[in-house]
Order: sequence, then C-alpha cells, then structure tokens
Amino acid sequence: MAKAKVTFSDVNVTVNVPVGTRIIELSEAVGSYIAYNCREGDCGVCLFEVIKGRENLSELSDQEKTVLRAHFQEIMDGWRAIGDLDKLQARMQRENFIGKHCRLACQTQVFGDVIVAPL
Ligand code: FES
Repeated sequence: MAKAKVTFSDVNVTVNVPVGTRIIELSEAVGSYIAYNCREGDCGVCLFEVIKGRENLSELSDQEKTVLRAHFQEIMDGWRAIGDLDKLQARMQRENFIGKHCRLACQTQVFGDVIVAPL
C-alpha cells in the first residue's frame, strides 16, 4: 500500500500513513492543535494551514469551498469595522485562504508528503 509522510509542524511529529488518510484522523493522534467539531465539513473549526505539499492533497470539494468562504467572510466582517479592507480581502481570498494554504482537516485526504499546522 502506498504511503504518504505527514508532518505536523506545531508538535514536530512526522507520521507515515496510507494514502487517502484524512488529516483529522492523524492530528488528534499526534497531539497537534488542529481543532475539530462536526467532522463532517459543516462547522469550519478544523481549519489548518498547508505549509508544503498542497499538490499532494485531495481536491477541494464544493462543500469545503462553501465552508471556507463562509468562515473567511466571518473573519473579514469582524475586521471590517477597523477600516477599508476590501483590497486585503480580495488578496487573501485569491492568494491564501480558499483551498490553497487553508483547508479543512476533516475533508482533506493526503496522497503524498505534506507539512501542515493549525491555523
Ligand atoms: S470538523 Fe467541522 S468542518 Fe471539519
């Protein structure tokens, strides 16, 4: 069976797992601080950062995109009172947040080596 190497940078632990394993199945076992709640892609609590190996993760599903967008919007709405953040919002959405450096641990499978961290 093919294996993938997953490194949790917050606890400096690397594990070798069968390809197709979800990040959430590993994070609790290794003591990573990636939080979770529903485990079904609904709450957005299990956000994590992809430090390296984004191309080795499962494709972003429509459900995951929707949850990430909603979570991102909540964060930006909270910051909006501080000032005009439209440009920052557009840039973060395009470059960082949705499906690139941030994913949902309960929805993301590994297919190759990755380095991840809590968000
Ligand atoms: S635990 Fe709720 S979306 Fe992942």
